[in-house]
Amino acid sequence: MSLARQGGVEVFQSIADCQKAYLEIRGLMEITVTTRTGERVTVTPNGATTLLEAIRDAGIDELLALCGGCCSCATCHIQVDEAFLDRLPPMSTDEDDLLDSSEHRCSRSRLSCQLTISDALDGLCITIAPED
Ligand code: FES
Repeated sequence: MSLARQGGVEVFQSIADCQKAYLEIRGLMEITVTTRTGERVTVTPNGATTLLEAIRDAGIDELLALCGGCCSCATCHIQVDEAFLDRLPPMSTDEDDLLDSSEHRCSRSRLSCQLTISDALDGLCITIAPED
C-alpha cells in the first residue's frame, strides 16, 4: 500500500490500496457476541457488510437468517448492550414490525441483518436473542 502527497494531503495511489487499507481497519474492529450458551466470542467484521454476516463468518451458527437478510423472518434477532444503543441507526418500520413477532423482544432488540458494519459498531457488545 502506498500513499502520495497531493496538495498537502496524503492520498492512496490506487483503488486497490484504498480497499486494502479499508479491510485492515475492519480487521481491527471488534464486536463481542454472547451466544445462547453464554459463551463470549470476539468477532472482527473483516469483509462483512452486516452484523449478521460478521457473526456467521465468525462461525456462530445460532442465527438461522431464514430470509437471507431481507428483513422478513426475524431469525437474526439480537439484543444490544444498553451502552451501545445510541450508536446504532434508527430502526425502520419494517424492522420494528417484524420484531413485534418475537416473544423475546425487548427495548434492546435489533435485527442483525439490518445493521450495517461501520466504525460506529467498533466495541459493540450484543447477545443472541433466545429462539422463538
Ligand atoms: S435474516 Fe431474516 S430478518 Fe434478518
